[in-house]
Amino acid sequence: MCGIFAYLNYQVPRTRKEIFETLVKGLQRLEYRGYDSAGVAVDGSAKNNEKDANNNICLIKQKGKVKNLDEELYKKGTLDLDEELQTHSGIAHTRWATHGEPSPVNSHPHRSDKNNEFVVIHNGIITNYKELKKYLNSKGYEFESETDTEVIPKLIKYVYDNREKEHVSFSTLVERVIQQLEGAFALVFKSIHFPGEAVATRRGSPLLIGVRSQFELTSQHIPIKYSGNKSDGVQEKNSRNRAESVGEQQDLMDMKAVEYYFASDASAIIEHTNKVIYLEDDDIAAVINGKLSLHRVNRKTGEESVRAIQTLQMELQQIMKGNFDAFMQKEIFEQPESVVNTMRGRICFEASKVILGGLKDHLKEIKRCRRLIMIGCGTSFHAAVATRQILEELTELPVMVELASDFLDRYTPVFRDDVCFFISQSGETADTLMALRYCKDRGALTVGITNTVGSSISRETTCGVHINAGPEIGVASTKAYTSQFVALIMFGLMMSEDRISMQKRREEIITGLRDLPDMIKKVLELDPKIKCSAEELYQQKSLLVMGRGFNYATCLEGALKIKEITYMHSEGILAGELKHGPLALIDKHMPVIMVIMRDGCYTKCQNALQQVTARQGKPIIICSQDDQETIKSAYTTIELPHTVDCLQGILSVIPLQLMSFHLAVLRGFDVDCPRNLAKSVTVE
Ligand code: AGP
Repeated sequence: MCGIFAYLNYQVPRTRKEIFETLVKGLQRLEYRGYDSAGVAVDGSAKNNEKDANNNICLIKQKGKVKNLDEELYKKGTLDLDEELQTHSGIAHTRWATHGEPSPVNSHPHRSDKNNEFVVIHNGIITNYKELKKYLNSKGYEFESETDTEVIPKLIKYVYDNREKEHVSFSTLVERVIQQLEGAFALVFKSIHFPGEAVATRRGSPLLIGVRSQFELTSQHIPIKYSGNKSDGVQEKNSRNRAESVGEQQDLMDMKAVEYYFASDASAIIEHTNKVIYLEDDDIAAVINGKLSLHRVNRKTGEESVRAIQTLQMELQQIMKGNFDAFMQKEIFEQPESVVNTMRGRICFEASKVILGGLKDHLKEIKRCRRLIMIGCGTSFHAAVATRQILEELTELPVMVELASDFLDRYTPVFRDDVCFFISQSGETADTLMALRYCKDRGALTVGITNTVGSSISRETTCGVHINAGPEIGVASTKAYTSQFVALIMFGLMMSEDRISMQKRREEIITGLRDLPDMIKKVLELDPKIKCSAEELYQQKSLLVMGRGFNYATCLEGALKIKEITYMHSEGILAGELKHGPLALIDKHMPVIMVIMRDGCYTKCQNALQQVTARQGKPIIICSQDDQETIKSAYTTIELPHTVDCLQGILSVIPLQLMSFHLAVLRGFDVDCPRNLAKSVTVE
């Protein structure tokens, strides 16, 4: 949920100002991950300070968004911004508060002591921090923040202070620290004892390293050095052998001048380099004298002994707002292209054939399964709700849809002949990841539907589909939803290819998919009209969204968008449930949006409309443009092009995405960074 970014320049002279700019830019790219507070740690002491500037770490932290930190860096005026640093390691963090309110003292980097001997940035949660804190307290370590993170710098100092005069490398210290940590983390360390060095590690939270050099990278892989099998306890005496084994680490690159970028995700790295290494759980990456090496404890059977240097496919322009006011708005308007990218190379429209490369080797096994279980959170869960009916129809299998947290709370029975889908834009959502591990333990076949190549869910599932929607930066998910929707429909089409009785239905859906981008463009043209409706509604406190059948998910998703960025109360209501309770809310003052499409539920939706208007409700109706009956009796309509019933939800959700965007703007809120939320929810 937090964003971590670090920059190390080795034999590449940079002024302190340039280093700040790089760190701040990195944080701004990651700000969507958390934006309660931010901080940096760089080398240097205050101007005129007698202490050796190279042996001093300066911490600057600020509550609020990264721009507040940026102002603070220059306001302070205590550091010499023009000083050129040949080699330097700086770390930076943008926080989403879990333990302790947003405040400078709770912000990262956290420190070991008042001299800032060790400082660290952390993404994730340390679940055993209370025990560690108690232990460290008993050893005389004093804590200043309310965070779980602070145990980490204190612990590394404890290990350092108790090393019994042996030479211990920075990465060995980190290795000993992470052996004591439980929970999830991505960490980058900096220390006055190891100037110009950086050590990074992860478990359960993503972390990658970008490498930039004017020299060609000598290798496409980084060898991993394994250290012994024995696990050191904090209280155990440190072994000289351990230190030596780590001292023998193999070097990845021996370059004269090199820059390294450590980040929670690729969006902070792409403007500097497209050469990256994704760290795996328990990898420890260390940069010493400009050389990067990797090591980990114990080699597990079948485990890779190298990490590949990958080339990012992302383009810088994909993570820029361009002419739009907000990323969310840009992402809504990208949907004609993002759905094409989801289908690209996978559908042959002429032959009515769908091939999902990531699933084809497992298709036989999937067809033999007893049921499909689709698991996700928030918008990703709604994508499962939206496609459940058509998947039941095309696969003729029972399809369960599950919210990951509830699925785990119930210890839901899962069997070896179940196929479990894990739907996640980020591929890092903690609840979904836990559910994945739970299903794997029970022997089910696991399928990932994610938007993030290299994410935990895409790596840990047996097989899967990348939705290829491109980076989604706005916290409110929009284009990922429509692409997840399309990916799941393609799965249904692939499963039903040999069913003669379904050919007509399949062809109609495939034609619908072919025409989808043009239809989405037509819906986007309705933006000015939707904005007018938003102008009528934005001062309301509450907004109900009703529909049923294929469009029920649209109501859930529309209501989620509205509550998440406008802070209005909003509820997605299944129209079939209206008379079982929600009808009591209806009067002439209650704002209502109804989704009524020409599908199997049309008549029932008309009945619901009558029930609402009979109570003086004046709903805004999202309907088909050829539905004269609804249009003539409605107060306001948003008329959509008509497509196949099971695809209509892709079109009907877009007016609600746009509506939530305009409502949020009119109410004066930051659309991309809604309060209390973060893009990637890596805590349970
Ligand atoms: C959507 O607008 C939300 N921000 C949220 O519900 C999100 O969909 C959910 O947290 C799941 O995220 P994921 O798709 O990355 O797993």
